Amino acid sequence: MTEPSLPATPAACIIAVDGPAASGKGTLARRLAAHYDFAYLDTGALYRGVALSVILAGGNLENESDAVSAAESLDMARLEDNDFAARLRTAETGLAASIVAAMPGVRATILAAQRQFATQPPDGKKGAILDGRDIGTIVCPDAAAKLFITARAEIRAERRFAELRANDGSLNLGTVLADIHARDARDEGRATAPMKQADDAPLLDTSDLSIEEAFAAALALVEAKLNR
Ligand code: CDP
Repeated sequence: MTEPSLPATPAACIIAVDGPAASGKGTLARRLAAHYDFAYLDTGALYRGVALSVILAGGNLENESDAVSAAESLDMARLEDNDFAARLRTAETGLAASIVAAMPGVRATILAAQRQFATQPPDGKKGAILDGRDIGTIVCPDAAAKLFITARAEIRAERRFAELRANDGSLNLGTVLADIHARDARDEGRATAPMKQADDAPLLDTSDLSIEEAFAAALALVEAKLNR
């Protein structure tokens, strides 16, 4: 006897947004998620959360087993917790995130959580937008639409400096630029899932665009892909 077939659930529509630090990908991905009423996942926050958990537990950031344990026990609700969330966004946590993000064991653990979010978006949403470094290449290679967002390093440093200086008066632009270069090098150079523009991801350079202009350009690229 054959089993009664279940009604097919339509596959979620996935949009992958990748790019380097402070390229504008987070802002654009959030705006696109609001536009389409899709769920949004900032995958960088997961790596930041792993790094910060290791630091707070007194572990060693260079030790893969400390980082994998932190990834396995990562509490998504904690990422929203005020004190934790404030430390998540600091420059130090960003650099620490790029250390644990190079570890294959950490990436494998985080990969499962990202795919689950993409294929079964929360709150009954019909689609999901994920932003990160390897969404279009590794996490969701079959995404319906992809974007690779970039901007010149000096522009990205100015944006990040403006964001961070309110909470850290000691910060200077030169240090932020050096951090951006260090993070780009680590993210592009790692062996596992390096940051890379997918072959089918159009490049959007936001260096000389306002947020509105960048959003209009991103939306046009996604629409062209979804309506093809
Ligand atoms: O916000 P920002 O672009 O500065 O960084 P983020 O997206 O929060 O990511 C922090 C770090 O996590 C990055 O520098 C990467 O090393 C790592 N990351 C990754 O390896 N893969 C992702 N999908 C997302 C972030």
